[in-house]
Amino acid sequence: MNNPQLNKNGELQHLLSTEGLPADILRAILDKATTFVDFSDGFEIRNAPLLKGKSVFNVFFENSTRTRTTFEIAAKRLSADVVNLNIGSSSTSKGETLLDTVDNLCAMHADMFVVRHSQSGAAHIIARHVAPEIHVINAGDGRHAHPTQALLDMFTVRHYKKEFHNLRVAIVGDVLHSRVARSQIHALTTLGVPEVRVIAPKTLLPTMVENLGVRVFHDMNEGLKDVDVVMMLRLQNERMQGAALPSAQEYFKYYGLTEEKLAHARPDAIVMHPGPMNRGIEIDSSVADGKHSVILPQVTFGIAVRMAVMSMLAGAKA
Ligand code: CP
Repeated sequence: MNNPQLNKNGELQHLLSTEGLPADILRAILDKATTFVDFSDGFEIRNAPLLKGKSVFNVFFENSTRTRTTFEIAAKRLSADVVNLNIGSSSTSKGETLLDTVDNLCAMHADMFVVRHSQSGAAHIIARHVAPEIHVINAGDGRHAHPTQALLDMFTVRHYKKEFHNLRVAIVGDVLHSRVARSQIHALTTLGVPEVRVIAPKTLLPTMVENLGVRVFHDMNEGLKDVDVVMMLRLQNERMQGAALPSAQEYFKYYGLTEEKLAHARPDAIVMHPGPMNRGIEIDSSVADGKHSVILPQVTFGIAVRMAVMSMLAGAKA
């Protein structure tokens, strides 16, 4: 079956999901992102005019702080013209369909769309609809996928741990509602991480989650034992129907990451979180701000990774 993310030359045409992307493409994105970071001077991000004359349209139908802003910074660092569509004041509120909105933005000569939408599959629908010279990046669709988040997470893991093939990684929390967790699992397994664990109560795990190639734990102390990387997830209250949990306090007691629970991981373990964080619910402030945390470097690396994705898409032959 054709991969909708690759063109006939095997180049990245759209970035819609980490699922189905070959390891060499994932590694190429991480390698390209490395060229945009000045590691000798903190994590300064370099300019590169690779998108000069191109127009990038940020079309966010859901709220975002990190993804929208770092895409804008990344596009500007690449010298692209950036248009941020304010959906609250756009004509979608008057009933215009998603594809009519896209057609109108194409008529304004969009070269690339960065799309966040509450409906799983929205970015795929746009990618199928647009002309071959236009590229689509999924910036998060429903519970389905958030590929640039997973890629910046992979970049962060590789920066601090150097290799993937000798790691134990635990993903903790609301896997059921998390597009980030799905994208992380596909990326980690494709890049050769031998042991990916998920730690969560049964009510916050998808059925048959083992089929994704992960080990399942319901106890934090057992699940965190000897892991190298802890990837925390936000409780996605906005996507929950009914009570999946007794209370936030109860959740923190059993699944909140505290220094005491983190002591079960390896002494040099890193702690990650995609943001936004719920302090005191899924993570204690002493851990979020502590010496194992790489949460803010994740955000900075996100600029470089998004630059890498956009420049690779722009370099694909239509
Ligand atoms: N991690 C993430 O997607 O954050 P935002 O919702 O702020 O973009």
